[in-house]
Amino acid sequence: MREDKYYGMVKESRFPPSLFAIYLVVLLLMSGVHTGLIVFMNRIGWNAVIQSIVPMIYWAIVAMALTLFARRKVRTTYEEPMHKLAEATSRVANGDFSVYVPALHTQDKWDYLDVMIMDFNKMVEELGSIETLKTDFVSNVSHEMKTPIAIIKNYAELLKTEHITEEQKKEYAEGIEGAAMRLSNLISNILKLNKLENQRITPDVEAYDVCRQLCECILQFEDAWDEKEIELEAEIEDVAMVEADESLLELVWNNLLSNAIKFTEPGGTITVRQTSEEGFVKISVSDTGCGMGSDVMNHIFDKFYQGDTSHSKEGNGLGLALVKRVLELLDGDIQVFSEEGRGSTFLVTLPAAGVSVNEDGGNL
Ligand SMILES: Nc1ncnc2c1ncn2[C@@H]1O[C@H](COP(=O)(O)OP(=O)(O)OP(=O)(O)O)[C@@H](O)[C@H]1O
Ligand SMILES: [Mg+2]
Repeated sequence: MREDKYYGMVKESRFPPSLFAIYLVVLLLMSGVHTGLIVFMNRIGWNAVIQSIVPMIYWAIVAMALTLFARRKVRTTYEEPMHKLAEATSRVANGDFSVYVPALHTQDKWDYLDVMIMDFNKMVEELGSIETLKTDFVSNVSHEMKTPIAIIKNYAELLKTEHITEEQKKEYAEGIEGAAMRLSNLISNILKLNKLENQRITPDVEAYDVCRQLCECILQFEDAWDEKEIELEAEIEDVAMVEADESLLELVWNNLLSNAIKFTEPGGTITVRQTSEEGFVKISVSDTGCGMGSDVMNHIFDKFYQGDTSHSKEGNGLGLALVKRVLELLDGDIQVFSEEGRGSTFLVTLPAAGVSVNEDGGNL
C-alpha cells in the first residue's frame, strides 16, 4: 500500500479490474457468436468438414485479435514508459542531470507510474543541485587558497634573496604570517561550517545570560573599532536569559561585529541594541557603513559570497553562512535591513530561556 502524499489521489493500477471485465464480456459475446454460427451453418446445411473448419478459423481470428490487443496494451501502458525511464536512468548514471521525463497523463489522471516519474525527476534535480554545490564548493575553496599560497611563495622567494635588510626580512615574515593566518581562518571556518551542517541537535545547550556575552564580545573588538575611530554604542539590558549553545552564539556576535567594523568607514557609528519581548530576545547590530543593494543582500548568506569586492581580501565570505546555520540550529532567526551608502542592521531573534522547543520536539 502506498504511504505517501499521493495516497488515495492516484490510480493504484495500470490494468484495472474493468479491463479484465471487458475481456470477459468480449469472450462471452464471441462464444455467443460461435453458437450462432453453428446454428446458422446447420440451417443452411454445410457439410461437416466446413462446419468444423469455420469455427476453427473464427476462434483463430478472435484469439489473434485479443492477443494483439493485450500485447499493444502492455506495450503502451507499461513497456514504453519503462523503456523511457530506463533510458533516463542510464543517462543520469552517466552524469547527465539535465534529464527530465514528462508525466504520462495530466494531473487529474495520474497513476502510480506518473508519481514514480515525477519523484524520479525530483531526485535527479536534487542530485544535480548537490553536484553543482559540490563543484562550486571545491572551486571556491581552491580559489580562496590560491591567493594566500601565492603570497607565501612570493615572500619566501624574496626572503631567499641576498642583501636584504632586517626591516625587509621582518616585512616579508609578517606577510607570510598574515597569509598563513588567512589560510588557517579559511580552513577553520570550513571545518566549523561542515560540522554545523552535519549536526541536527546542538550540544551544550543551557540557559545563560546573553547580555554578559554581548558585552564580552564587544570588548574583544575594542582595539579594532578604536583603531578605525568608530564610535560604538551599546543599549543592552542588565540580564536576558537565552537557552542556547554559548560558544556557537559567540560565533554569531563575532561575525556580525567584525562585519560592522569592516564595512564602516572611520568616524562611523556601530550600535548594538538588545531587547526582550514576549518570549524572545532580540539583538541588533547596526552600522553607518557602506550598506548593500538588494542584489548583494540576496546572496550574503551564501557560502564564499563577498559583495563588496574592495574588502574581499579580508575574509572569505563564510561568516554569514556560519551565522545563518548557527541560528537555524538554535531555532533563531536573522533579518537584514540595509541601504546602500547609509548602513546596515542585522537583527537576530532568539527564543528566551524556557520557551524554546523545536519542531522535532528536540530541546535546543
Ligand atoms: N555590515 C555590513 N555592511 C555592508 N555589507 C555587509 C555587512 N555585513 C556583510 N556584508 C556583505 O555580505 C558579504 C558576506 O559577508 P560575510 O560575513 O559572509 O563574509 P566576509 O565578511 O566578506 O568574510 P568572512 O566573514 O569570511 O571574514 C560581505 O562580503 C559584504 O558584501
Ligand atoms: Mg564576515
